[in-house]
Amino acid sequence: MWSVHSRAVEALCRGAYSAQEVRTWVELLRPEGYLRPDLPRTVLVAERGHTLVGFGQLDAMLGELEALYVAPEEVGTGVGSRLLEALEALAWRAGARMMNLDASLNAETFYRSRGYLRLHAARRILTAEVQLSCVRMQKRRPALALGEGRGGGLLSPRPGP
Ligand SMILES: CC(C)(COP(=O)(O)OP(=O)(O)OC[C@H]1O[C@@H](n2cnc3c(N)ncnc32)[C@H](O)[C@@H]1OP(=O)(O)O)[C@@H](O)C(=O)NCCC(=O)NCCS
Repeated sequence: MWSVHSRAVEALCRGAYSAQEVRTWVELLRPEGYLRPDLPRTVLVAERGHTLVGFGQLDAMLGELEALYVAPEEVGTGVGSRLLEALEALAWRAGARMMNLDASLNAETFYRSRGYLRLHAARRILTAEVQLSCVRMQKRRPALALGEGRGGGLLSPRPGP
């Protein structure tokens, strides 16, 4: 997950953020940071064969999508959409009425075409000097979503801590 996360930020967020912002962002990621989240979270990973090609992290109770990253070589092949659909289905099943997220500037169009509305500009604080501009977005639970479950052979749940 750390490798996918770092490579996705380096390759895919470069156009939307400065070199210093990307460098700081990647430097703050730690391999051990994925093993024990502070609080229970739902993490789904996408695998092609035995290779992890994407992951998403959700606080299902709050309906907060905390991370969605796809390996650069897999971008545009539907991995992100499949992960997002599966995470949304889990959030709706957990009773969330809304999905909320802070979208990176490069990902706003991706989320908009999947039903998310822009609420307002936001900031993700990395350090005292570096704050990332992002966009607070929200999607309402569709009327038909309750009880609906979608999965796929590409996706595997990871147990929480
Ligand atoms: C945003 C992200 C998760 C999307 O994942 P993805 O697997 O590329 O998503 P999909 O393949 O399902 O859809 C990507 C869209 O880009 C299009 N696309 C096609 N080729 C593409 C390419 N080479 N590069 C980017 N997008 C491409 C797809 O057709 C699709 O278009 P649509 O929105 O009109 O359907 C992924 O780009 C990523 O990890 N970005 C960097 C990290 C990031 O910003 N994450 C979000 C944090 S909030």
